[in-house]
This record gives sequence, C-alpha cells and structure tokens, in this order.
Amino acid sequence: PFEVEFVASGLTRTVPAGTSILSVAEQEGLPVFSSCEQGTCGTCVTAIVSGRADHRDSLLSQAERESNEQLCICVSRAEPGAGPLRL
Ligand code: FES
Repeated sequence: PFEVEFVASGLTRTVPAGTSILSVAEQEGLPVFSSCEQGTCGTCVTAIVSGRADHRDSLLSQAERESNEQLCICVSRAEPGAGPLRL
C-alpha cells in the first residue's frame, strides 16, 4: 500500500496492494480517463507533481521513466519507501 495525493482535488488516499491508482481515483469520482487498463494505450497518463513512480506500463520510454514526469495510473505505482506520490 502507498499514499497518493490527488492535488487538483486535495484528496489523499491509500492505494492498497492489488488496487490501481486509477481504481481509487474512480471510486472517488475524480475525472480520470482510461481505456486498456493494462499500461499499453496511454489514455490514463497523468503528470507527477512530486514523489517517485514505480513504472509498470509497457508504453513509456526509458527516458520518460527516468524523467519521473508522468505515469500510467492504471498499472504503475509509487516507488516503495519513496513517500507519497502527488499527482
Ligand atoms: Fe491504457 Fe492506462 S488505460 S495505459
């Protein structure tokens, strides 16, 4: 589990193991977009305000991952031990 703050709405929520950031956002009624939910289409790509992503998609390039500027919220998570992810 890890913490995510959705900056635009001011909500902080815990993302449990086995649950995606996307699912948590949808449960809260936040305006998120998704399609494949498998980390391949890019529809759910979201900007990272702060924190470090553990990228689990198969879409972003190595350079994009290392830039830590965005993540696919349908599959990617927070890097363990790196503190909350702010999006
Ligand atoms: Fe397709 Fe996340 S919904 S990459």
